[in-house]
Amino acid sequence: MTTNETSAAKDASISNIQAFNEQDVIIKGWLHNKRSSGNIHFLLVRDGSGTIQCIVEKKKVPENVFKIFDELTQESSLIVTGKVRKEPRSPIGYEISVSNIEIVHIAQPFPITPKEHGTAFLMDNRHLWLRSSKQRAILKIRHTIVMAIYDYFNSREFVLINTPILTANAVEGTTSLFEVDFFGEKAYLSQSGQLYVEAACMAFKNVYTFGPTFRAEKSKTRKHLNEFWMVEPEMAFGTLDDVFTHEEGLIMHLVNEVLSKNQDDLAVLERNTDVLKKIQPPFPRIAYSDAIVTLQKKGSPIKWGDDLGADEETLLAQDYDTPLFVHRYPKAMTSFYMVPDPEDDRLTMNVDLLGPEGYGEIIGGGSERISSLELLEQRIEEHKLPRHVFEWYLDLRRYGSVPHCGFGMGLERAVAWLSGASHVRETIPFPRMYYRLTP
Ligand code: 4AD
Ligand code: MG
Repeated sequence: MTTNETSAAKDASISNIQAFNEQDVIIKGWLHNKRSSGNIHFLLVRDGSGTIQCIVEKKKVPENVFKIFDELTQESSLIVTGKVRKEPRSPIGYEISVSNIEIVHIAQPFPITPKEHGTAFLMDNRHLWLRSSKQRAILKIRHTIVMAIYDYFNSREFVLINTPILTANAVEGTTSLFEVDFFGEKAYLSQSGQLYVEAACMAFKNVYTFGPTFRAEKSKTRKHLNEFWMVEPEMAFGTLDDVFTHEEGLIMHLVNEVLSKNQDDLAVLERNTDVLKKIQPPFPRIAYSDAIVTLQKKGSPIKWGDDLGADEETLLAQDYDTPLFVHRYPKAMTSFYMVPDPEDDRLTMNVDLLGPEGYGEIIGGGSERISSLELLEQRIEEHKLPRHVFEWYLDLRRYGSVPHCGFGMGLERAVAWLSGASHVRETIPFPRMYYRLTP
């Protein structure tokens, strides 16, 4: 190696390494693993965009560079210089023939080794666990889904409205509120931005909010987080038909984007992509009342008027390859803002979307919203909600009230389903769950 060769080396990222074939590059990253056959050392280096094998041959590098191998520990940070060359046996088709290694930091013994670890241990080390290939694959799928959500609504002229996190109102029941002291006044972390997008849709017609939402549920299921992200569109003059259309449209866009942009990540996760490729519109629709009959035929003890639990959702959805719409639930179990079914006053004009493969409710809250002032006042009273904090919300029914509709999709549930993750805790970088506030 001459000084000239090194100075000609270009900064490269592993994901784009094919553009540098036969050229000298600089890779900045971390050591994932190492092995040696004596005169040849093999370093598996990860730079955030990918992982590449770097070959250090005794006869090609100065002795001090060759010896660096002995010092390197798992997750040590380093800067590697070398020539990119084709290697048919490599999963990415290339490797690097090393000319120089610069140590940035020698890592202490890394807690997460290639052996199996328990979930509690991994969750305690979430800040380090993020570096593992499966966790990175899931979070890259999350990235695609987040971008695809913005893309879906932006390209349909929905205006993004950022709704507040500190609020005075409950949206989805008063039992799951996180209370905070707001200068001596009671405030809550937002359960949903819905009431605010309802206000905004009267200004812009079609809007959406997308941000963190909070539920103080002490549940320990694989579908519940205390802090999760939700996208909530709201459409002035919209009806339940628009809800069906956009739920289906959004889901199809997400499926297609993940299939086209995350092939490598899906492979790392060993996700069965055939089941994702089978997802085609239109998604089947079943009325709640018919769903109860179907469930009873399948042996479930459920009765009309009972809510669908996780088991019932799985039982219902298992007949379909695609997500399943369940619509028109009994009023008693739905939110205060939902319009009664004009054909059956016991029911509401609402819909939930259940994912296939047992993933359960992915989209909820889908409904026509009450536009009548009197009916809304009555519903607020029936739900024993504090009227004074809803005055501003009632104003929306005083000044140019129109029928409107919307829904909310839980980001982590969508990521879990599309990536095939078994628990939502792996679908958010730093999950907040019952008894889990760190890291
Ligand atoms: O069904 P939910 O409670 O509906 C609403 O909040 C409506 N206000 C939305 C609207 O119409 N604008 O929640 C919507 C979705 C659920 O279907 C689920 O995907 C997700 O949010 N979700 C959760 N995700 C993770 N952990 C939790 N604890 C969740 N609770 C709801
Ligand atoms: Mg729901």
